[in-house]
Amino acid sequence: MKILVCKNYDEMSERAARIFAAQLILKPDTVLGLATGSTPEGMYASLVEKYNEGKIDFSEVTSFNLDEYYNLPKENDQSYDYFMKKHLFNHVNIKNYNLPNGMAEDVEKECKDYEAKIDAAGGIDIQVLGIGQNGHIGFNEPASAFKKETHLVELTESTIEANSRFFESADEVPKKAVSMGTGTIMKSKKIVLLASGEAKADAIAKTVYGDIDPMVPASILQLHKDVVLVLDEKAASKLD
Ligand code: F6R
Repeated sequence: MKILVCKNYDEMSERAARIFAAQLILKPDTVLGLATGSTPEGMYASLVEKYNEGKIDFSEVTSFNLDEYYNLPKENDQSYDYFMKKHLFNHVNIKNYNLPNGMAEDVEKECKDYEAKIDAAGGIDIQVLGIGQNGHIGFNEPASAFKKETHLVELTESTIEANSRFFESADEVPKKAVSMGTGTIMKSKKIVLLASGEAKADAIAKTVYGDIDPMVPASILQLHKDVVLVLDEKAASKLD
């Protein structure tokens, strides 16, 4: 694992954006794996800036998001589809973006189709990840085994609680989501995990130094040959 420690959130966002910008310059038809959440917002803002300055182009890019809430219409302002349009897709010339369809009638088929679509696109070249305080990646929550493929997830209380800041109350937070599996994530050619703030320091320390354990889903990244952690000083504070 390569670890880059940045002073603060803004520096982390800029450093991560440069990694993605370099990727798009090297391979304009990159297959991007994208994440939502507060962590990558600054990185998306910086990518939009670079696009506006003519430094990067998304016209040949294909993207696949990690996850989407189950049974939440995409027009809902808390859907991940809405988030991605607000922070990135509406501001750049991307044409081919994909998120799991959380409204699919046959969700099992949707999961299989999503995996097949990623494979048909040639696999993900570079995946951005955030991390939950409990070590989750995508919506792969601590569990007795690593989940391989895209699947329907029951969210844990701690994730519902953490996400409730975006809803009126915890009752309104969807209880399920469709998420890439850890196997799907591990198939990406390159992974860039971002973390900022003290609340993530334990999860980061366990990811880097802990046992590879499905109770800390991000720990599986130790087995990937091309992972970069871009951290701010607070998220890196338990790494000594
Ligand atoms: C989002 C996702 C989640 C988040 C994680 C951290 O697509 O897959 O795993 O990355 O919950 O969220 P933030 O960045 O809001 O702390």
